[in-house]
Amino acid sequence: MTTPVDKTSGTDTSRARTAAEGSRPVLLGIAGSLREGSFNHALLRAAGELASDVLDVRIYEGLGEIPPFNEDREDSPAAAVTELRRSIEEADVLLIATPEYNSSIPGTLKNALDWASRPYGASALADKPAVVVGASPGRGGAAQAQEDLRRVLGRSGAKVLDQGLSVSRAHSRFDDTGRLVDDEARATLAEVVTRLAQTAGVAARSA
Ligand SMILES: Cc1cc2nc3c(=O)[nH]c(=O)nc-3n(C[C@H](O)[C@H](O)[C@H](O)COP(=O)(O)O)c2cc1C
Repeated sequence: MTTPVDKTSGTDTSRARTAAEGSRPVLLGIAGSLREGSFNHALLRAAGELASDVLDVRIYEGLGEIPPFNEDREDSPAAAVTELRRSIEEADVLLIATPEYNSSIPGTLKNALDWASRPYGASALADKPAVVVGASPGRGGAAQAQEDLRRVLGRSGAKVLDQGLSVSRAHSRFDDTGRLVDDEARATLAEVVTRLAQTAGVAARSA
C-alpha cells in the first residue's frame, strides 16, 4: 500500500506510473505516525518533492493495518505484512521519518519493523540502505527516537547511512499546508536526498 509522490505539489497522487518512472530506482518513505497532519509525513512529502526527478518515490501508507507481531505467524502473516515486506523488498533505498514517543520510536513503527525483520535470516531489511530522519514540536527534533531507530534498523540488517535530519520545533518549520518552509531544514533534507540518490546509483539533479 504505497502512493507515488507528485513532483510539483509533494502530495500523494493515485496517477498511474509512467514507464520512465518505473525504470527509476525506488525510494520508499515510511513515517512512524498515523496522525492526520503528521509532521513526519510532511517531511517525507518534502523529501519526495526533492527526489522525484531521479527516484521513483513511494510513500508507505499501510502502517495502521499491520497487526501486532506474533512469532507464530511469521511464515503465514496477514496480507498487510506481506505487502509491507514486498514494498521494502522492491525499494532500492529507504527513508524513515520517526516521531518521538516517550523518548523512543512509536510502537506501531517498531511493530512493523519487527514483522519486516522476520523470519530469521530472511529480513526484508537485509542490506537495505536506509536514512533516518525525524520531526517533533519539541526542542530535540525526535533525536532520541532516531537513535533508537538506527539501532533497530541495524539489528534488522539494514545499512543505516550516517546522514540524518532532526526537525525541532516542527510547528514553526512547516506552513499550514504541511510544506517544509524552513531553509536550513530543506537544505539538510536536500543533502539526505542527494545521498540516497547516489546510494541508489543516480545523481540528484537540483536537490
Ligand atoms: C504518547 C506520546 C509521547 C510523546 N513523547 C514525546 C517525546 O518523548 N519527545 C518529543 O519530542 N515529543 C513527544 N511527543 C510529541 C510528538 O513529538 C508530537 O505529537 C509529534 O507531532 C508526533 O509526530 P507527528 O507529527 O509525525 O505525528 C509525544 C507524543 C505522544 C502522543
